[in-house]
Amino acid sequence: DKGNYRHFMAKEIYEQPEVVGRTFAHYVDLATGRVALPEALPFDFAKIGRISITACGTAYYAGLVAKYWFETLARLPVEIDVASETRYREPPLEKGGLTLVISQSGETADTLASLRYAKAQGQHTLAVVNVPTSTIAREASAVVPTLAGPEIGVASTKAFSCQLTVLLCLALAAGRARGTLGEAEEKRLIDELIKVPGLMAEALKREDEIEVLSREIAKARDVLYLGRGTAYPMALEGALKLKEISYIHAEGYAAGELKHGPIALIDDAVPVVVIAPHDATFEKTVSNMQEVAARGGKIVLIGDARGADAAGLDTLATLMMPDLDPVVAPIVYAVPIQLLAYHTAVVLGKDVDQPRNLAKSVTVE
Ligand code: F6R
Repeated sequence: DKGNYRHFMAKEIYEQPEVVGRTFAHYVDLATGRVALPEALPFDFAKIGRISITACGTAYYAGLVAKYWFETLARLPVEIDVASETRYREPPLEKGGLTLVISQSGETADTLASLRYAKAQGQHTLAVVNVPTSTIAREASAVVPTLAGPEIGVASTKAFSCQLTVLLCLALAAGRARGTLGEAEEKRLIDELIKVPGLMAEALKREDEIEVLSREIAKARDVLYLGRGTAYPMALEGALKLKEISYIHAEGYAAGELKHGPIALIDDAVPVVVIAPHDATFEKTVSNMQEVAARGGKIVLIGDARGADAAGLDTLATLMMPDLDPVVAPIVYAVPIQLLAYHTAVVLGKDVDQPRNLAKSVTVE
């Protein structure tokens, strides 16, 4: 049931404050303000040397964000690949190590095959899944569910933000277990996480501006998305979302890669969506924006007031996100990225919930 929404995708975008809140409440003890996994994990984060993450599509991008979190908060090295590569690459995996798989459906053929491979290598397997009765949920040695509820729209939205939420809780748990995250810092980050549903509701208020902007984006043949740090995988996700439902060619790049090739594409016909919360690398991203502006590129800045002031650039649009801790930014910044893809597809009259050539669950390779 779509309720009052035109599409399942819109409904699912709007459900995010609620389902993200429900998901973190499952992994956080709200009384103590600390992470509390509902079930003990069958391994100890303090005793593993590395995590191998494998997933496909949007779930893979959630894993890429998590790589930054595990590495910074828990000083835990992360190796990550798309499952279609992992399964045939047959990487050496240490017995007793950890493979983390991420899947909304829990049925993706390549992800399942990678999970089975990891198990056969004697790895612990931890699955972030949304469908609790799925094959991946059954076969993994432990499951950390996302509580997004059924996701009907083919383009993943609420499952993605809930994956990020679970992964951040896992990184906090790993940081505590490994002694890299002090109690005060853990509590501070949990406080920031508790604010996220409210911040997502704020981000949803940008919808009217995004709708206006989408009429410009709809005219483009190509769109670039740039970001640094966790905003880099968000750029990849933004580009995937746009291309899969609007059929506009879009590419996501690490902002620092701009001058290594993609800058050749920039002219006044190519909108460049820059995802840039005001974090430690913001100034670097500003120089990239200046390089785009100098070539007549049209910038769409998804950032905050401090960043927009500091950048002081003319943009096609600035989508102002609320002030937040950069650690939780990916969860909140998912909202404008999804809305921009959604409205662009609607403007172009595309079948948002059932894009051509795509299936919700990819059970064959
Ligand atoms: C994109 C999208 C796909 C899925 C991918 C993995 O919006 O939905 O890229 O993320 O097919 O699916 P799951 O998470 O079910 O393994």
